[in-house]
Amino acid sequence: MNLKPQIREIFIDNDKIVTISDQVFFQTGNDGVHQWESGIVLSRYLLSINPIGSILELGSGSGLAGITASKYTRSTNITMTDFNRTVLDNIQENILKNSARARVVYLDWRDVTTYTNPADIVIGSDLIYDGAPIQDLVRTILHHMNENGVCYIVMPDKRKMTPVFLEEAERAGLDVVAMELKDWFTCSPHRDVQKGFRDFAELTMRKYFLYTLTRKSNI
Ligand SMILES: C[S@@+](CC[C@H](N)C(=O)[O-])C[C@H]1O[C@@H](n2cnc3c(N)ncnc32)[C@H](O)[C@@H]1O
Repeated sequence: MNLKPQIREIFIDNDKIVTISDQVFFQTGNDGVHQWESGIVLSRYLLSINPIGSILELGSGSGLAGITASKYTRSTNITMTDFNRTVLDNIQENILKNSARARVVYLDWRDVTTYTNPADIVIGSDLIYDGAPIQDLVRTILHHMNENGVCYIVMPDKRKMTPVFLEEAERAGLDVVAMELKDWFTCSPHRDVQKGFRDFAELTMRKYFLYTLTRKSNI
């Protein structure tokens, strides 16, 4: 099994490519160095809404979504975060590979004070799995989202803890709207010319949901 990260070109759209270093076979503990399908779906969602506000990404992994926002959307204020040093170094390298402009900072959901700047838009993909600190994640979202901010989380249907996260988010004072992202959002991100390219087959085998979270209004 080859654990050495490989350089991949991810086709977000026909003429919109992000180059990342991707550890194809992921290792538990370093799972952010592996590119997850949800990150591709989130990247395409960002491309489709072309946001203008500041963006803070939680559990950035390879940094694909933040780099996509930097290269292909109007947002010029992007911060990518993770709690794993190897993952953070990989994001930094991926930013350089793409000549993108974004900050990389350490943020552990289990201690929201590790980074405290709120943003207009908080994003994340595939963050809720067995063993993930769900209450801490919800607290982190609330802590880092501006008063009128919004949070977009993309999750595959295979993650059984998602309903627990959604309940916890409602309880903590967030409204949640769910929407399935399909068709263009889940099409293959590679071209035939990329010999041996991992096909991200789960994109077409699973359903992907966008959860939009906002603060409940007090009226
Ligand atoms: C399944 S990976 C998803 C990575 C990326 N969002 C994607 O879709 O490709 C989960 C990510 O969350 C990060 N993570 C897990 N627990 C965390 C915590 N307590 N604080 C910050 N990041 C965390 C991991 O390091 C990893 O990068």
